[in-house]
Amino acid sequence: MSKKIVVITGSPRKNGNSFAMTDAFIKAAKAKGHTVTRFDAAMMKINGCHACETCYKTGKACSFDDDFNLIAPAIVDADAIVFTMPVYWYSIPAQIKGVIDRIYSLVIGGKDITGKECALITCCEEDDTSVMDGVRIPIERSAALLKWKMVGEVLIPGVLNAGDIDKTDGCKKAAALADLI
Ligand SMILES: Cc1cc2nc3c(=O)[nH]c(=O)nc-3n(C[C@H](O)[C@H](O)[C@H](O)COP(=O)(O)O)c2cc1C
Repeated sequence: MSKKIVVITGSPRKNGNSFAMTDAFIKAAKAKGHTVTRFDAAMMKINGCHACETCYKTGKACSFDDDFNLIAPAIVDADAIVFTMPVYWYSIPAQIKGVIDRIYSLVIGGKDITGKECALITCCEEDDTSVMDGVRIPIERSAALLKWKMVGEVLIPGVLNAGDIDKTDGCKKAAALADLI
């Protein structure tokens, strides 16, 4: 079945490791007939949540009208959300954290966003997979809270410089993730 997949990236490196995996995933997902809408959060203007709880009061998801409001309708409409990002300081990069925080507006705004599929693609420099816990655990717990089903995770340690991903099976695993959606 063809699905609507929203991919949200968090790296500012266009030639970087998580982008390479993102590209591999998107190519495979499109080949399977899915529709993919991609948002590169680091190239957009997206701030954090103000917790004002005036969500949708202006007609848009967030009263603070930045580029998050371009992503919000796509998330509401999606069958699956795929987050892709590197690890920054054992955590989620600020560039994509703003998007994740502001999914709050969809909840406060009363949008039914339950029942979606969710997947994660991430990577880090260190050779220890647990370094990615600071990305993996918040995504898994947020998905559980939102009643999204985690369908797959690609966690690639040991990649620092752009291109290092080619020395791993990261892109192959990211492409295979498309089979799980
Ligand atoms: C600001 C910053 C913080 C980082 N923090 C970590 C870290 O805590 N642990 C780690 O293993 N790698 C860390 N890294 C390395 C990146 O996760 C790694 O280079 C990754 O491959 C970058 O992915 P990208 O090419 O998709 O941007 C950090 C990189 C930057 C720029």
